[in-house]
Amino acid sequence: MSDVDAATDVINGRTGGAQFRVGLILGSGLGALADAVEGATIIPYGDLPGFPATGVAGHEGRLLLGHLAGVPVAVLQGRAHYYETGCADVMKIPVRALARLGCESLLLTNAAGSLEPDAGPGSVMLITDHINFTGVSPLFGETGNDRFVDLTGAYDADLAGRLRDAARRERIALPEGVYMWFSGPHYETAAEVRAARMLGANAVGMSTVPEVILARQAGLRVAALSIITNLATGVAEAPLTHAVVMENAAGAATTVQRLLLAFFAAYGDHEK
Ligand code: HPA
Repeated sequence: MSDVDAATDVINGRTGGAQFRVGLILGSGLGALADAVEGATIIPYGDLPGFPATGVAGHEGRLLLGHLAGVPVAVLQGRAHYYETGCADVMKIPVRALARLGCESLLLTNAAGSLEPDAGPGSVMLITDHINFTGVSPLFGETGNDRFVDLTGAYDADLAGRLRDAARRERIALPEGVYMWFSGPHYETAAEVRAARMLGANAVGMSTVPEVILARQAGLRVAALSIITNLATGVAEAPLTHAVVMENAAGAATTVQRLLLAFFAAYGDHEK
């Protein structure tokens, strides 16, 4: 039995085979959003074949299955990153399991450094597209034609529109931009950040892109939000530390929570 079959069986065994509509991957410091999941069945990643160990502070490593504003959701609280193992496909089984559970969409959150002085720490940025600066793919080693994943419109226009609507209703500023994936775990140099700007990036970070590629392959529609925890190297003078990133992520978490709850509150309305 494949890991995704086995993981899906464990999940179905605990939920009675319930179907879910939206998957959510919570990045650094956003674990608090998990507390808003109503009636959650909670499964540690350790119980799920093929799910990663999460070794970074702020990444819990558990799957929550329940409801947000009445919408059935499967929330991955904590991700593993490429930089932890050198494997870009560490989130392959979790993302594929979300599709098996019936999810039609995947919302991703991450912590990122901003290239825009106007969108400083505490801002939330809607990702409109990405640049993969690592040169690796979570699909390395796959066979078959479905490895040639189309990334046209990878960030779904309809979901982005719903997030914009939710932001407007909640009076949350929601700048938009291109996210550039660096491998980490070191932060960027000032020269790399200048290069990122020239290439068209508005934010830099160490996650999300492999999950987007996997999600598109699995047929999930994607939306992604960056919590801006800092101005990127060279954009501000202050040196970067993980502690500062975590602290600022926690500060913006309530904003993201409000945005996502407003998004979910209206989620069903769009079908009428
Ligand atoms: N660079 C890369 N990843 C990050 C940053 C950054 O400045 N901030 C938070 N995650």
